[in-house]
Formats: sequence, C-alpha cells, structure tokens
Amino acid sequence: MWYLPCLLFWVFPWVWVQSEAQQKNFPFRCLQISSFPNSSCATTEGLAWLGDLQTHRWSNASDTIDFLKPWSQGKFSDQQWEQLQRILQVYRFSFTRDVQEFVKMLPNIQYPVEIQLSTGCDVYSENASENFFYVAFQGEYILSFQGTSFQKAPGAPPWTELVIKVLNGDQGTMETLQWLLNDICPKFVHGLLQAGKAELEKQEKPEVWLSSGLSPKHGHLQLVCHVSGFYPKPVWVMWRQGEQKQNSTQRSDYLPNADETWYLQATLDVEAGKETGLACCVNHSSLGGQDIICRSHGKHSPVGVIIAAVLVVLICAGICYVVYTKKRRSYRDIL
Ligand SMILES: *[C@@H]1O[C@H](CO)[C@@H](O)[C@H](O)[C@H]1NC(C)=O
Ligand SMILES: *[C@@H]1O[C@H](CO)[C@@H](O)[C@H](O)[C@H]1NC(C)=O
Repeated sequence: MWYLPCLLFWVFPWVWVQSEAQQKNFPFRCLQISSFPNSSCATTEGLAWLGDLQTHRWSNASDTIDFLKPWSQGKFSDQQWEQLQRILQVYRFSFTRDVQEFVKMLPNIQYPVEIQLSTGCDVYSENASENFFYVAFQGEYILSFQGTSFQKAPGAPPWTELVIKVLNGDQGTMETLQWLLNDICPKFVHGLLQAGKAELEKQEKPEVWLSSGLSPKHGHLQLVCHVSGFYPKPVWVMWRQGEQKQNSTQRSDYLPNADETWYLQATLDVEAGKETGLACCVNHSSLGGQDIICRSHGKHSPVGVIIAAVLVVLICAGICYVVYTKKRRSYRDIL
C-alpha cells in the first residue's frame, strides 16, 4: 500500500506546487484512500495535514479520527467536533456503498478499484479562502467539485459523466459538501491556525556537513553538502568558490525527517584536484537574517584529522622508544 500516497502526489501535482508557493498560508489538505479489492471487501484510510505538519489520521479500523497534535481539534468544542465526526462517519459509510453501487451499474468497471480523494481549503484571511476537491480513479484524475457541482476532468473516461449526473442530482449530498467546503473547512482551519501557532511558526536550525564520492563522470569528484533538521521548508544552499556562486550546484528534493524537519542535499561535480577552496553555504530563516553557515571542503576533513592524529601518535611512540632505549643503555653503562 506504500505506493498509494506516492501515486496520489503524482496525480495531484498542482496541489503540491500550490502549497509550496503559499507555504505561509498553511493549506489544509485531507487525503482519502479507498481500496475495493472485490465486491465484498472495502477499506478507507484518511490523512490530514496543515501545511506540512500531519494533524489527523483516520484508519479504516477506527470509528474515530485520531489527533496527531495536541491542537488537532482547533477551536472546535467537543460537541462541534463530535457532530463533524458523525457527519464524516455517515459520509464514509455512504461512500463505500455508493462506489459498490456504481461498480454494479457500470459494466466497464471491474474490481479491484482504487479511489483517491484530495480535498481541503486554504485560508488567506478572516473571510478569504479557497477550497478544492479532486477525485482519482485507478490513479487517474477523473473529477472535481467546483463551486456548486461536480465536473469531469479532461481525459476522464466517458462513464464519468453518468457518475457526475447521479452525484449532481443528489441535493442532500451537494448541500452538505458545499457547507463543509465553504463554511466548516475555513472555520476549522482558522481555529487550527490559532491553536497550533507556536508549532506552525517554529524555527529549527539546519545542520550542515560534507561528504564526497566518485562522480559518474570520469576524473570528476562529486561533493555532497548535506543540510538537515531545518524547519520551515524554504532553504538556500549553494556551493561557492570564494565569493563566486557555483551555478552547477544540483539541489535534491526536500525529504522529510522523522521529527517533522527537512533534509536536502546539494551536489557539485568538480574535476579531481580542483576541489580546494570550495565551500557549501546555507541560509535559512532560523539563522536570523544575515547569518549564513559555510562549510569548506578539504579543511579539517575527518580523514585529514585522522591522518594527523596517527602521525602524532607514531612520532610520540618513536620519541618514547628512543628515550627509553637510551635510558636503559645508560643504566646498563652505570651497572
Ligand atoms: C476479497 O478480498 C479480500 C482482501 O483481498 C480477501 O480476503 C477476500 O477473500 C476476497 N473475497 C472474495 C469473495 O473474493
Ligand atoms: C473497513 O471498515 C469497514 C467498516 O467498519 C468494515 O466493514 C471492513 O471490513 C473494514 N475493512 C477491513 C479490510 O478491515
């Protein structure tokens, strides 16, 4: 099942691009992954994030939604939360039943069926927010909810039209969905933003270290600058030669650490022998403005330190040996 979230991120790249650009607005995203291996078995898993912090999880085995943060209930009262949870329980049950009905009704569809759903909202200010609702079938984006109705995605299979017609004809579902997206979601996210403020605005400093290896290019070295443990996500990393930026620096994607901080590496291909004087420099909001961390390649490298230490030990041993044998000889001379 591990590939499902990956598939989902691939299916909804625009959601990610958007969240990257609007990081400061902390979009709230819920992902639903529903698997129907055959007509008698169904599972639905749910996950939710505010910005890049995971706030909720809803496993198929549980009737209740788990809080992953102390502030996951936002500013909703217990009663409001109970009510929302009950609506979502009914939704989960109806969703499973409706999909099974559609599969019976549509001869083109066969089990196993995988459905993924990405929905949520992005709150900009007190009364400005946007919401989204996208559905994928077998890993392909097929429909979305736009304003007041479901719309077919470009390139979706023709039977999607029938599904949309049925959904758009269901007045109760349409009203509930609009209420959840336009009213409840922004209200809930407002509360989450307040309750989770300290954690959402946390600043974690990056650690920077270097390593090097052989480059695929003959006669070249690959210098790797590891930047880890920082939060929030945006970070500036560049290899430099003195003041000169090395524009051939290659940045990796951001990778998540287990402690909700980020990791990234910046590599530079250099001709062997030309690596002296190169430094990797990092700037991040946690460093307070002008501060910048630089690590120079070659200086104080662990290998150099080890060789120096071994040399010192050897020289000491040599001196000790000479002094000792001399002393022994002089004692013998006395005796
Ligand atoms: C349906 O799929 C589940 C899970 O893969 C399996 O355990 C079960 O035996 C299947 N049932 C039928 C009727 O094929
Ligand atoms: C998922 O939950 C539903 C409803 O509680 C249940 O009927 C179903 O058997 C569960 N699926 C699995 C695979 O446990």
